[in-house]
Amino acid sequence: MSIVSVNHLVFRYREKGEDVLKDLSFEVEPGEFVAVLGHNGSGKSTLAKMFNGILCPTSGSVIVDGLDVSSEESVSELRKTVGMVFQNPDNQLVSTIVEEDVAFSLENQGVPYEEMRRRVDEAIAAVGMSEYATHATHKLSGGQKQRVAIAGVIVSEPKLLVLDEPTAMLDPQGRKEVMEIVRKLNASGITVLMITHYMDEAAQADRILVINNGEILLDGSPHYVFQNGGLLKSVGLDVPQSTELMFMLRKEGLRVPLSVLTVEECFHVLEDVLAGRVEQDG
Ligand SMILES: Nc1ncnc2c1ncn2[C@@H]1O[C@H](COP(=O)(O)OP(=O)(O)OP(=O)(O)O)[C@@H](O)[C@H]1O
Ligand SMILES: [Mg+2]
Repeated sequence: MSIVSVNHLVFRYREKGEDVLKDLSFEVEPGEFVAVLGHNGSGKSTLAKMFNGILCPTSGSVIVDGLDVSSEESVSELRKTVGMVFQNPDNQLVSTIVEEDVAFSLENQGVPYEEMRRRVDEAIAAVGMSEYATHATHKLSGGQKQRVAIAGVIVSEPKLLVLDEPTAMLDPQGRKEVMEIVRKLNASGITVLMITHYMDEAAQADRILVINNGEILLDGSPHYVFQNGGLLKSVGLDVPQSTELMFMLRKEGLRVPLSVLTVEECFHVLEDVLAGRVEQDG
């Protein structure tokens, strides 16, 4: 059974406004890592807010782990099932000390102390912040703060993690740290839906959904999606730099593969080019 089921989802912000999401339908399987790409204003954050019921469909439905997000009775269960992480870590941290911050949501749920202690320690360890457990949150780097924010979410043991541009405000080191944690959490079984503007991050997902103007433009593996470079450019999106380089070499007549996504794959192709192992047109 799918963990996320979006059926003919339509959403508009006001009675008479334009539809921001236009008849979206897709499923997400348990354990998938789905990246969501789309130009500014295409409706990505609006979509993200459906998954834990911050917003409800105008028509159509969104079902998460069997819970209809539009149903009043689902709300408290939904908040446990779906963890949300946003762009700005400063807006998500609620306490001055790391472990207190991570414990916050459990204190509100009335979890017994022993269990809380264990789960907080596990969540902090899972984001690689154990040595900072008793440190002040305001002294951490952006990447560390975002990792603490993620710990504060996974401490509730969600099945689905929805991240809306979690690395947008971070430096390259912070981005790398957060991506590693997200991938690790996914590998441990949590389903991930991550909105990003970074193509190299999307390339690390199992699947990419490209949203344009409230509609799904492309849905498939990173290899499939990034081979549609022309279509992506037409809606203001890019391909990873390694893929871009392959397109440029193709233009020069070298028959390199266009399915290259990572720097490592790119390196191997360039080795082949330099060793004369790649055919040329003409
Ligand atoms: N609270 C709101 N009230 C009315 N319109 C809104 C509201 N929030 C967003 N919108 C509009 O809905 C559309 C989609 O916005 P949304 O924030 O979902 O896009 P996005 O893809 O997340 O963009 P970005 O890449 O800039 O984060 C935009 O036209 C936006 O102006
Ligand atoms: Mg957004």
